[in-house]
Amino acid sequence: MRILVAYATKYGATQGIAERIAAKLNAEGHVAEAKPVTADPDVIPYDAFVVGSAAFFGKWQKEAHEFVARHESVLASHPTWFFSSGPVGPDPLDAKGNDQKTMSIPTDFADFREAIHPRGERVFFGAFDAAKLPLMMKAIRIMPAARKVLPEGDYRDWADIDGWAHQIAEALVPVPA
Ligand SMILES: Cc1cc2nc3c(=O)[nH]c(=O)nc-3n(C[C@H](O)[C@H](O)[C@H](O)COP(=O)(O)O)c2cc1C
Repeated sequence: MRILVAYATKYGATQGIAERIAAKLNAEGHVAEAKPVTADPDVIPYDAFVVGSAAFFGKWQKEAHEFVARHESVLASHPTWFFSSGPVGPDPLDAKGNDQKTMSIPTDFADFREAIHPRGERVFFGAFDAAKLPLMMKAIRIMPAARKVLPEGDYRDWADIDGWAHQIAEALVPVPA
């Protein structure tokens, strides 16, 4: 099947996740392409969709939300999956003992659930490089509390990402008659 993996990224981590998902889908016999939502890819040639975005302050990037809203009827009538690249840090739990991935579910998932009925929704650990922040944000990070909330590093879990892509690849294989 032809699959579009559409993504929104600010600092590049989500692009890496989208490209990895597309590579895995290709390796499993599909024809997948990872494209940024900002390129406004034509959705008509595709049979299925994976849409993902980096999460900032509890939400997807605006362009990802707008992409889904713009193509709502096409996504609703094709197999569609959503992912978010969010929490960073080495620990699956936050300081209060809550599951980081659950706490990082973007509000966008709920916004689209009823209209699109996605086959799946997934939060992945992301990556954070303070050197890429604008000057103002770098200044905020001087505070130890801010450094604790956003630890630097690449926390993307490639096995987790590959496992999810494998599930998608299998779900899209037509059942032999
Ligand atoms: C200012 C700022 C705010 C963030 N807010 C959240 C958030 O609310 N939830 C979350 O899960 N991750 C949050 N993150 C972490 C990013 O989502 C994570 O680093 C992501 O992988 C970045 O993706 P990108 O490199 O594709 O832009 C935040 C990061 C920054 C720098």
